[in-house]
Amino acid sequence: MIVINKEKCIRCGSCVRDCIIKILKSGEDGMPYLPDKLERCCLNCQHCLAVCPTGALTCNGVSAAQCEPLRPLPRPEDMLSLLRQRRSVRKYKNESLPPEILEKLKESLAWTPTGCNAHSLMFRVVETKEEMTFYREETNRMIMKLVNTGIMRWIYPAINRFLEAIQNGEDVIYRGAPHMIVAAVPKKAPCAEADPWIALSYFDLLLQSYGLGSCWCGFAVHAFKWNKTLKKQLGFPKGYKIAAVLLFGKPDVTYHRATAPENFKILT
Ligand SMILES: Cc1cc2nc3c(=O)[nH]c(=O)nc-3n(C[C@H](O)[C@H](O)[C@H](O)COP(=O)(O)O)c2cc1C
Repeated sequence: MIVINKEKCIRCGSCVRDCIIKILKSGEDGMPYLPDKLERCCLNCQHCLAVCPTGALTCNGVSAAQCEPLRPLPRPEDMLSLLRQRRSVRKYKNESLPPEILEKLKESLAWTPTGCNAHSLMFRVVETKEEMTFYREETNRMIMKLVNTGIMRWIYPAINRFLEAIQNGEDVIYRGAPHMIVAAVPKKAPCAEADPWIALSYFDLLLQSYGLGSCWCGFAVHAFKWNKTLKKQLGFPKGYKIAAVLLFGKPDVTYHRATAPENFKILT
C-alpha cells in the first residue's frame, strides 16, 4: 500500500515517473495515487519512497524516516582497488569474527538486488567453530565414502588431486575458514540462478572492505545437495535449493600486490 502525505507532497511527479512497473498514477490535481486494482502488482521496490524529494510517501508501511540518509560513496579509485585487491583466501586465522561485525554483514544482505524484487532468498551464516567442525567432518566422511565406493570418480574427477591431503587431515574443502554463508533460493523464484550469486558477491565486497578474506566453495554446494545430514543441519525449508557458499574470516595470508589478470574480450 502506498500512502501519500498530501501536505508534504509537492506534486513533482518523480514517483510516478520512476515507478518501475508504472502502476503509480498522477491524479488531475497532480497528486500521485495507486489504483486499488493495481495494488497487488506493486513489487515493493520502494523506488517511489527513495525518489520522493520531500519524503511524502509511505511504501508498504515504510516511511522516509525509516530509511538511511544518503552518505558519500567510495571514490571510483577506491572501488577499483577493492576489486583488484580481492583475493580468494585459502588460509584463515583460527578466530571467530566479533558478533557486531557478523551482524553488520548479515544486515547488508537486505540490499541485494533480486529478479522481480522477489526477496525470497534465504541465508544461513555459520557463526561458531563447533558448527564449522561439524560440516568439515561430515563432508570429509562423505568424500571418503564416495571415493571408496568408486562413485566419486564420476561425480567429481578432480577430487583425486585432494585425496592425499584429505587423508592427511588437511581441510581442503573449507580451508580452515571460521565462517561460511550459504545462500538458498526457492526453486521457482523468477531469477533462481542469478540471485544467490549476486547476493554473495555483494556480501563478498563488504567483507573485503572490513579487511576480511573469502573464498567460494563449490564443493560444499555439491556436498549439501547430496548429503542429507549436512542439508538438514543447514535447516532450509522444503522447496529451497542450496545455490552458493562463501567461506570467510580473518585471512592468515598477506598479498603484497594486486594480480595482473588476463583481460576478457570486451566487444564494442
Ligand atoms: C563460481 C566459482 C566457484 C569457485 N569455487 C571454488 C572452490 O570450490 N574452491 C576454491 O578454492 N576456489 C573456488 N573459486 C575461486 C577461484 O578459483 C578464484 O576466483 C580464481 O582462482 C581467481 O583467484 P582470485 O579470486 O584470488 O582472483 C571459485 C570461484 C568462482 C567464481
